[in-house]
Amino acid sequence: MQKNEDLLRERRKDEHVALGVKQNEQLGKFSLDDIQLLGTSIPRYNVRDIDLTTTICGMDVAFPFYINAMTGGSRHTKKINADLAEIAKEVGIPMAVGSQSAALKNSTLIDTYQVVRDNNPNGVILANISPEVKIEDGLRAVEMLTADALQIHINPAQELVMQEGDRSFSHWLTRIEEYVKLSPVPIIVKEVGFGLTRETVTSLANIGVQTVDLAGKGGTNFARIENDRRRDQAYDFLLDWGITTGQALLDMQHADAPDIAFLSSGGIRTPMDIVKSLALGAGSVGMAGQVIYSLKKNGVEQTIAKLELWKEQLRGLFVLADAQNITELKKTSLVVTGELATWGNLRGIDLKQLANRK
Ligand SMILES: Cc1cc2nc3c(=O)[nH]c(=O)nc-3n(C[C@H](O)[C@H](O)[C@H](O)COP(=O)(O)O)c2cc1C
Repeated sequence: MQKNEDLLRERRKDEHVALGVKQNEQLGKFSLDDIQLLGTSIPRYNVRDIDLTTTICGMDVAFPFYINAMTGGSRHTKKINADLAEIAKEVGIPMAVGSQSAALKNSTLIDTYQVVRDNNPNGVILANISPEVKIEDGLRAVEMLTADALQIHINPAQELVMQEGDRSFSHWLTRIEEYVKLSPVPIIVKEVGFGLTRETVTSLANIGVQTVDLAGKGGTNFARIENDRRRDQAYDFLLDWGITTGQALLDMQHADAPDIAFLSSGGIRTPMDIVKSLALGAGSVGMAGQVIYSLKKNGVEQTIAKLELWKEQLRGLFVLADAQNITELKKTSLVVTGELATWGNLRGIDLKQLANRK
């Protein structure tokens, strides 16, 4: 019985990767396209003056983007984790592993995650668990990687579409509170592509969470992945569930959680998406689907080259925004139009103020 469960779990990990890569071949219009960043034609800075440094959970990091949680838990995904760790090390960016439940239940799979620390001994590495995981096991997940922080993913929509998914959620908030109190490393609470509303963020801030990852809709769609895995495909009606990354970022402008740090992710595909996210207050920007798609399509070396180019392109965008660093970037005016503006207005976001910040 246990063996069957292990096999099913391993197969699920491989299916998530295959379906996630396929989805990321072709992405539609993105919510952040409805935001225009107002720049200058007489920049005060040169490209070499730009400082891209930021902090995640109080840790200084050199570049404001990271590889978000994806995988581990099967033989095939060990190789992917090894490659992702190589990319993270060479580019010098933080990286999260996928949910470690598989290794907590079956110790023969520990190496499929640990390879990330082996390949990148000095990097910033984030552990990842579900709030289903009991505290003593969660702490083992941190130890497994000598992780620098612990991501806790909250994904009720995914669980509900998943045939074998969880059906009880009401204990999650108290479980997360326990982690906040007992974890030796900082906690990041994240969605998985359905977006955190400001109400959810406020609930998390009220129990002491200091960092959230908004993980909005617009990239990898886990309702679609889980629905495709079902024989009956009975959840077609939930494929559009959640709020987009643009909506989640606007919502944070009026969140009743002034001290919480937030990370932007979900559908991020260009340096422009990163700059818009940072201008809206994100501390850093995460990417999952586009990185694994690039890895599968182009390999490790080309993915590294692409992300290296992004650093240079980001510096260029900071020049255009007339911002030397992220603190200055947050003063840039952002004009929100289209569907995103309609949504923002209904949520009471002061879009006029955002459009006239300088
Ligand atoms: C193949 C794959 C597996 C994933 N597995 C996890 C996971 O185990 N834990 C988690 O927190 N998020 C997981 N995610 C979600 C991502 O971390 C991210 O929140 C989501 O994909 C949205 O970002 P994206 O549009 O850049 O892919 C996974 C994503 C992909 C593509």
